[in-house]
Amino acid sequence: MLIDDKSALYWASAAESVQWMRPWEQLVSGEMPHASWFVGGQLNVSVNCLDRHLEAGLHKKTAIIWESEQGEVLSWTYEKLSADVQRCANVLRSSGVSKGDRVTIYMGLVPEAVVAMLACARIGAIHSVVFGGFGADALATRVSDAESCCIITCDAAYRRGKTLPLKENVDKALKTCATVKHVLVVDRTGSNICMEQGRDLWWHEEMSKASEVAEPVAMDSEDIFFILHTSGTTGKPKGIVHTTAGYLVGVTSSFQQVFQPQATDIYWCTADIGWITGHSYVVYGPLANGATIFLYEGALDWPDPDRVWSLCAKHKITIFYTAPTAIRSFMKSGFDLPQKHDLSHLRLLGSVGEPINPEAWQWYKNKVGHDHCPIMDTWWQTETGMIMIAPPCSLDQKPGAATQPLPGVDIRVVDQAGQTLGRDQAGFLVISQPWPSMLRGIWHDEERYLETYWKQITGSYFTHDRAKQDADGHYWILGRADDMLIVSGHNLSNAEIEASLGQHPSVVEAAVVGIPDEIAGQKIIAFVIPHTGAVSDEELVVVLKAHVGASLSPVAKPKKIFFVSDLPKTRSGKIIRRLLRALLTKEENSDITTLTNPEALAEIKNMIDSLDDAVSTQ
Ligand code: WT7
Repeated sequence: MLIDDKSALYWASAAESVQWMRPWEQLVSGEMPHASWFVGGQLNVSVNCLDRHLEAGLHKKTAIIWESEQGEVLSWTYEKLSADVQRCANVLRSSGVSKGDRVTIYMGLVPEAVVAMLACARIGAIHSVVFGGFGADALATRVSDAESCCIITCDAAYRRGKTLPLKENVDKALKTCATVKHVLVVDRTGSNICMEQGRDLWWHEEMSKASEVAEPVAMDSEDIFFILHTSGTTGKPKGIVHTTAGYLVGVTSSFQQVFQPQATDIYWCTADIGWITGHSYVVYGPLANGATIFLYEGALDWPDPDRVWSLCAKHKITIFYTAPTAIRSFMKSGFDLPQKHDLSHLRLLGSVGEPINPEAWQWYKNKVGHDHCPIMDTWWQTETGMIMIAPPCSLDQKPGAATQPLPGVDIRVVDQAGQTLGRDQAGFLVISQPWPSMLRGIWHDEERYLETYWKQITGSYFTHDRAKQDADGHYWILGRADDMLIVSGHNLSNAEIEASLGQHPSVVEAAVVGIPDEIAGQKIIAFVIPHTGAVSDEELVVVLKAHVGASLSPVAKPKKIFFVSDLPKTRSGKIIRRLLRALLTKEENSDITTLTNPEALAEIKNMIDSLDDAVSTQ
């Protein structure tokens, strides 16, 4: 057996949270790193997200409430969602899409995107959702890698009052992607676009002709469910492969564990469907549980910085799940703004994407949750498919600790040799037993799968994160292993230093990197976004160095601090520290395909260049 008895019992009972067309015979089999789950079983994800709720009498329950950027509100009952999904499934079928074919979904956050995902699930087509904020090249790379036969898109997407030309990007991408036979286009904005005869089809025309009954395909447990590309540290994105039953069991049960949904909840996860969070906790986890989900099309701070709070109040959101980077920007743009809105319906708050610094955690708890909402700091990855670590759902939590593995999840902190470390010792975070929603590989790249996740620590899945267990056995995530620092022989994590800087009341957000130093091995450089109205830069440098020295250790003091207005980030809000390092070390040719705010990088580059000029003319 690949897993211990306790985990086996847990996963066997978790499998009862989904509806099977044929029961599974064997819980888990294979040899790591290739485990198969629920072998012999058959099921369909769209049946689990729709039909079974209709059978249970939830026809009239609201499945989706959607608000457009302009403020228009529409809602879909489970009955209507089911009819639309089946119609779309028929449209795909009549366009020649069948089980195992890849369909790229490249849309804004509109309900049709959820319909498209579930329609693929219904007919067993493998979806590959590409974030609507990506441009034509990024789209082309992903369509080519997946060899999709169909793209579902919108004419354009609204973003901050402007439109993003999605269909135009598709047209550009298709110059190099020969596999695509059809493009299905939702008319979202009425933009003037080209429709290529024979290839391009209007969503509304095809949908109106299609029947609202489409038989679901019985999928084997291990049939591929979807591919989702995630960027590696460099180079080509990795197409992470998830399979049907394990993924569905993982997200259905973890949604229950972490969010403890109640029938009357209105649940809002702010992620885009282009990320794994959007797959697992906007669409599949909540809908498999018959929840009511809220979707908002636009930017959370547009047209006003408190749009996010007015949406929570207006739609009486009870569960709110977002990312630390968003929380910090809410704090920065309006420390007291949540108080202007009635947030009394909120009962649970969630965070995902990176370690949440204690200052942001406290603010979230106090200003947004009025001290009565537990904060679920959830650690997981595109590769894990589901939340792996989360705190107990209580008000007695430690700010910044993701805390404890979910049942059936075997997390360890180990050294380079794979030896389990004791309490308070920082090391690599690994997962030692397979779990149902684990990635099954990288699309068409077995070598890279083994190389990236299985070669570092023998027998375990390597997360690429560092972590430690505190004296109570609770897990703290210390950031990515590749961002680690060694200064004068001391092992430091960028996350700890960033957290220390972040605790200071003058600091909104900080990024810390190490660059080579002849004496110390590495020296620490910090990039800090200060609060407006803070003391002068010179004074603040002294104060912050002293603060880090006192709160962590004198070796952790940054050698240099740059005050910046923004930090280079990915679209999912992760700081790209390697770009900061590259600027400091004058490395050329950095890969900036995942960078969402080039202006931030340009500002920092100017700062560093002018400093070099000053030094060279001294
Ligand atoms: C990486 C995975 C999982 C959905 C969003 C990101 C970091 C994620 C936490 C957390 C500390 C976190 C890790 C992880 N991360 N959640 N609660 N505390 N770090 O998915 O893009 O695949 O990124 O995000 O470094 O490895 P992803």
